Amino acid sequence: MRKLILAAASVAALALIGPASAQSPIVIKFSHVVAADTPKGKAADKFKELAEKYTNGKVKVEVYPNSTLYKDKEELEALQLGAVQMLAPSNSKFGPIGIKEFEVFDLPYILPDLKTLRKVTDGPLGAKLLKLLDTKGMTGLAYWDNGFKQMSANKKLIAPDDYKGLKFRIQSSKVLEAQFRALGAIPQVMAFSDVYQALQTGVVDGQENTWSNIYTQKMHEVQKYMTVTNHGYIGYVVVVNKKFWDGLPPDIRDELSKAMKEATEYGNNQSAKENDDALELIKKSGKSEILTLTSEQDEAMRKAMMPVYKDVASRVGQPLIGEFLKETG
Ligand code: LMR
Repeated sequence: MRKLILAAASVAALALIGPASAQSPIVIKFSHVVAADTPKGKAADKFKELAEKYTNGKVKVEVYPNSTLYKDKEELEALQLGAVQMLAPSNSKFGPIGIKEFEVFDLPYILPDLKTLRKVTDGPLGAKLLKLLDTKGMTGLAYWDNGFKQMSANKKLIAPDDYKGLKFRIQSSKVLEAQFRALGAIPQVMAFSDVYQALQTGVVDGQENTWSNIYTQKMHEVQKYMTVTNHGYIGYVVVVNKKFWDGLPPDIRDELSKAMKEATEYGNNQSAKENDDALELIKKSGKSEILTLTSEQDEAMRKAMMPVYKDVASRVGQPLIGEFLKETG
């Protein structure tokens, strides 16, 4: 009897292992640092939905928002090591792994609007930049929008002089460092997940980000003033571990590419509205005063930041800046 039970148990175990392993889905861990309710968070969730649908469940996408899995710098290392398969870091975050060229997107006032941005990302220059990722063990799949950055502090930021001596949190980009230095401020690189606390405790005085990031991280609750500057852009490069991507069955890769294309269109079509909505919610909260600049004040900010182009020319590459300006000018 005992023998029979054991035999039956091992048959059952084999039956479990056999078909289960034959059917186990391919898992894509997609880690990111922002809230689910943001342009990037929503595009990632849309990709999950479409990828699972188009592959009939052969692929399972696990989205980890809000730095729950990794913070900024760690997530890129985790991708290179294969601990996660997909990320969408901002253009400003590739410098520390040796790709400085994406920092061109950080140049102040280089992108007048999202239509101009699309000319770059959807054209040959966008494709050329994605190719650079191959050398770092990743494949670039798409460009996702967030939107334009605004400035905030506990002091009114109107003229370039107002920035003098204040500490600003920045993403890990030398262009952003040069930008705040041009204003006489002190830039401090910090992971996105640490910004709220740093503002709350006064470790830094101010920051720059999009309305959706400001609102979902509650930064408006710890900053008295926000200035509509639209001085820079935050967008993302969706990257996948190259070995993982190249090793996928071609039909699965095709379905995932289709899902990515559609998720990109979905996300990029509504990013501007999400930032507009977040601005309204910040205004409604009454926690932070929103300041706007006159055209003269805006001009003074532009002028103060112009030296950045020269300061970072050797780092980002003057020909690349030229190419970019040709597309956007
Ligand atoms: C930041 O660090 O401020 C942003 O890059 C966060 C994000 O992913 O939007």
